[in-house]
Amino acid sequence: MPPISVLADYLLSVARSLSGAAEGLRIGFNKEGTVATRQHLLRLATDLIDYVARPEDKLMVWLPVLAHLTAIRLFIKWGAFEKIPTAEGTSTSFRELAAELKADRALIARVGRVLVANGTLARAGDDRITHTVFSKTLATETPIWAMAQVGFDNGLTSFSAMPKYFEQHGIDNEPNDRFQTILSFAEGAMGSTAWAINHSSPERLKVIMLAMASIDEYLPALGSYDLGWVVREGGRLPEQTLVVDVGAGGGQTLKKILKATPGLDPMRCVLEDLPEVVAVVEGQKDAELVGVKMVGMDFFKEQPIKGALVYYMRRCLHDYSDDECLAMLKPTVAAMSNDSRLLVVEMPVGTQPTRLQASMDLMMMAISGKERTMDEYRELLGKAGLVVIEAVPNTVGGTVIECAVDNRAR
Ligand SMILES: C[S@@+](CC[C@H](N)C(=O)[O-])C[C@H]1O[C@@H](n2cnc3c(N)ncnc32)[C@H](O)[C@@H]1O
Repeated sequence: MPPISVLADYLLSVARSLSGAAEGLRIGFNKEGTVATRQHLLRLATDLIDYVARPEDKLMVWLPVLAHLTAIRLFIKWGAFEKIPTAEGTSTSFRELAAELKADRALIARVGRVLVANGTLARAGDDRITHTVFSKTLATETPIWAMAQVGFDNGLTSFSAMPKYFEQHGIDNEPNDRFQTILSFAEGAMGSTAWAINHSSPERLKVIMLAMASIDEYLPALGSYDLGWVVREGGRLPEQTLVVDVGAGGGQTLKKILKATPGLDPMRCVLEDLPEVVAVVEGQKDAELVGVKMVGMDFFKEQPIKGALVYYMRRCLHDYSDDECLAMLKPTVAAMSNDSRLLVVEMPVGTQPTRLQASMDLMMMAISGKERTMDEYRELLGKAGLVVIEAVPNTVGGTVIECAVDNRAR
């Protein structure tokens, strides 16, 4: 802990920052502003812990986080959250819950108490528990339910395998091969990409697709980038495909794009992803995607839609190393015409990444991907034969990078 007077100054600055945020909330922000305020408050809270904690306190701060994530994962796996009644004023005892799960009472109580101690479940009298707003989101198949599983199964599993992985593979090269990832090492599935692993069963495919919809708020589909020009240009070119969402997942982004762009005809939009993903999306018959053409493809192979006005790629480049990004971009760049634009949507990191950015980068390392700075994106896109026309950041850390084919490179 710093000297008392330094700590006092720091606490005063936190207090001032908190009152500024409180004033802002009273005045009322737009949705993005509120997300930014929340992020700011979360940063203040975690920085405060860091600032106050002595070295010997650090483990005491980390250990509960690890235990908490593990307890959440176990309760999801056991179907325990959905056995807790959700109606207002209701609760269950650990004994009743254990009986429902055909499990040992002490086991359920010990894991359950981790959830109570961390605020995921609430105590409702001796040995009784009740839902919180958060635990209710873990009781049904929500994007947060899915992300909690992916965070544990892909994230923590890979993190815990890292010491052994690097012992065997050395530390003279950062992981850069999508077939030889830390995740595949942890899963005993070397030779499989992260996507092959995540799509290896219908349940896992469902979970990863749903999880991708959970962090939308942190990376808006367009933010303040206005895609209206596509509708205006498209009027002159009736046959041209207007928007191709490459590596679209369940269509969460394309739906936002359609909503944010009045006049954009879904019949002139395409959702592309691996065939097994597209099959799920087609099966969902989502009313917001009616008319959108669904195309199963592999973005390392030929881009099936040629000369579209916009190719849109969100959160795809950060899944891969530089060389693999170039291989992945090549077919799409080859399909672009002079008036085509590629919109790359990512969360470029600063040279001093935040806690979240640096953690995401380690998650990406587990699948041989990486987070990049804006300069690194520029360089990468340049090597792929593109020029960056503009980069439009939003207030929560995402950026839409608009690129065109660099004719000098053709
Ligand atoms: C991180 S997710 C991003 C999904 C969506 N763009 C978003 O931002 O929510 C990456 C997507 O790329 C897809 N993908 C992975 N490998 C692919 C490949 N070789 N060809 C096409 N799509 C692929 C995955 O199935 C997944 O939907």
